[in-house]
Formats: sequence, C-alpha cells, structure tokens
Amino acid sequence: MKKIGLLTSGGDAPGMNAAIRAVVRKCFYHHIVPIGIYNGFDGLIKGNMKRMELGSVGDIIHRGGTILYSARSKEFMTKEGKLLAVNQLRKHEIDGLVVIGGDGSLKGAQSLVELGIPTIGIPATIDNDLARVDRTIGFDTSLNTVIEAIDKIRDTATSHERTYVIEVMGRNAGDIALYAGLAGGAESIIIPEIETTMEEVVCRLKNGQERGKKHSIIVLAEGVAEGFKYGRKIEELSGLETRVTVLGYIQRGGTPTATDRVLASILGGKAVDLLLEGEKSKIVTMWKNELIPQDYEVVLQEKHEVDEYLYHLSKQLSI
Ligand code: F6P
Repeated sequence: MKKIGLLTSGGDAPGMNAAIRAVVRKCFYHHIVPIGIYNGFDGLIKGNMKRMELGSVGDIIHRGGTILYSARSKEFMTKEGKLLAVNQLRKHEIDGLVVIGGDGSLKGAQSLVELGIPTIGIPATIDNDLARVDRTIGFDTSLNTVIEAIDKIRDTATSHERTYVIEVMGRNAGDIALYAGLAGGAESIIIPEIETTMEEVVCRLKNGQERGKKHSIIVLAEGVAEGFKYGRKIEELSGLETRVTVLGYIQRGGTPTATDRVLASILGGKAVDLLLEGEKSKIVTMWKNELIPQDYEVVLQEKHEVDEYLYHLSKQLSI
C-alpha cells in the first residue's frame, strides 16, 4: 500500500475534519501518500484530487464542515458512474480508499469494494442512524447544538407561558430528538420509531397545565411530521398558545465537541491501520465501547434500534 485516497460524502457532520486529519497524519506516520478527493464521489468520478501534505490538515481539528467538501452524487448511483470512479482510482494508482460519511456514502463505499477497491468506511452523520454503531461522528456536537437551543427556547417559553414545538433533524431516525429531548427536559418527544398520538401529547400538556406548569417543550423529529403543521394541530386540539421552531442546518455546523474529535481521531487512525494490515472491506466502528471493524453488510443491512429505555425514561421524568 503506497497511496491512500480519502473523501467525505453526504451530509457533512462536525468532526469530519478531525477524521480527515487523523487519516492524513496516520498516512504520514506510515510513509504512505494520502490523496484528498474533493466533493465526495462526484469529485472521484471527475478525478478532482490532490496529494495532501502534513500541513494541509493543520488547524482543522476544531472546525466544523469538511475541508474536502461534500456532495450527494447522483452520477455515482449509476453503474457507469461507479466504473468511472474505479478508473480514476486505478489511473492515480490509489491502492485503498477511506470513505467518511453516513449510510448512503457507506453503501457507495461498499459498491467500490465489490468492484475490487479496498475501501474502509468511517461512520459520520449527525443522524446516528446506523446499526451496531454506538455513535456516529457529528451526533454529539449536533446534540449539544440542539440542547443549547432548547435551553434558550425554554427561557422565552417560561416568560410567555407558551407551548413550543422544536423540530430537529435525523432523517428517518429519532436519536437526535430522543437524546436532546431527554437532556433538554422536554415534556414530549416525538420520534418515528415509537408512535405517539396527538391526543396523548395534548393530554400530557393539559395534565402539566393543571399541575401548574407554565410552559411545555415538545421535541419533534423531522421524520414524523413538519413542525409547523404539527404545532398548528397541537394548538387546535389543546387550545394552548403554541409556537414552532425548526432548527434546520445549524444542527450540522459548529465546532466539534471533544467527544466527536476523539471519536474521529480513533476511527480515522484505525482506518489506515486496517488498510495497511491488508483489510479490504470494513466499516470501522465503536460498538459497545470497543473499537471494532465490522462488515458492511452487518452495519448497513440491519436496522438501527432506538433506545426504548431512554424513551420511556424521558416520559417518566417529564410528568
Ligand atoms: O443526514 C444528515 C441530514 O442533515 C438529515 O438529518 C437531513 O434530513 C438531511 O441530511 C438533509 O439533507 P440535505 O443536506 O441534502 O438537505
């Protein structure tokens, strides 16, 4: 192994830069040439890549986003696109690839393995929606952004004695809503994995009001409903003044937390070690607190399970 390529793909996540730094520095440590591929699989197809230097990853560990840029490539979804990507890798004599991204990107990485390219995946997405992965890179930072927002909204919710619906990201998964809702003391947490009827939410609001609660926070995962529609319905059914905040893309940016930086450094370093050991096809994960390389099939085909214990706990604690 003389040359390793790396790219970031899909929705960016805080900590991707720390992972890039770890891959590049680990390559230098082992006297391997790291090649940065820009704009994800789109850039790979176009041959948009350049040799990374030691200094090119200096001063990025604390930055959100990705210095390699990212994309959701439609062309790479086609057979022709994948073959073009493989040709580029061969043309540039890249012996192995590291792909940093969420489930779509890791599926892309798997398809390159099937075409003969040794490829190691690193899970990075704010959604935390992968099976057999404790935490994806970016989830912790995103969570902290959401909690900060909930705390601020709580101040104004108390002053005006209102109900607030806060819509958070997560695509089809409820982890951001669940963890942020629990940590932010939300009265109700609405996630795609566990059905909660509007009647139940309204009942909880009314009970709270009868006991003298001055405000309520409902954290809604985007995979369940649109925040504004949901909020309107809650207001209609409960008669309580309701406001809505859609947090949106602020959840994807910002300085990565220490947890995300450490995770990204561990996974990035291990990805290079695995390629050097001759591994051709793995996703590198922390699973049950252990650093474990796992098969693509296992991580990508199994369903991510929501932590039902946390969900029920949050209900018990927010009566
Ligand atoms: O996967 C990360 C994510 O931010 C999801 O939470 C969200 O649904 C989606 O990406 C938004 O995608 P885009 O950046 O393409 O608008």
